[in-house]
Amino acid sequence: MVVEHCICHKITFKDIQKTAAEKSISSVGELQKENICCTNCKLCVPYVELMLKTGVTTFEAGAIYALNLDP
Ligand code: FES
Repeated sequence: MVVEHCICHKITFKDIQKTAAEKSISSVGELQKENICCTNCKLCVPYVELMLKTGVTTFEAGAIYALNLDP
């Protein structure tokens, strides 16, 4: 199973990435404040955080648990 969008906001991680770049947004909190994604069920939050950190926009389900996210 591929994880590539915020279901609640009906927006792909690729489009979130593009919007974040256009608005100089670098955190999930800022994306939420702009109501772009991540404000409802929040299941996408760890993936969006990973996207912001790595630039990757498509993940295997569970990828957040397989990667070492230490800074
Ligand atoms: S999938 Fe992103 S808030 Fe629900």
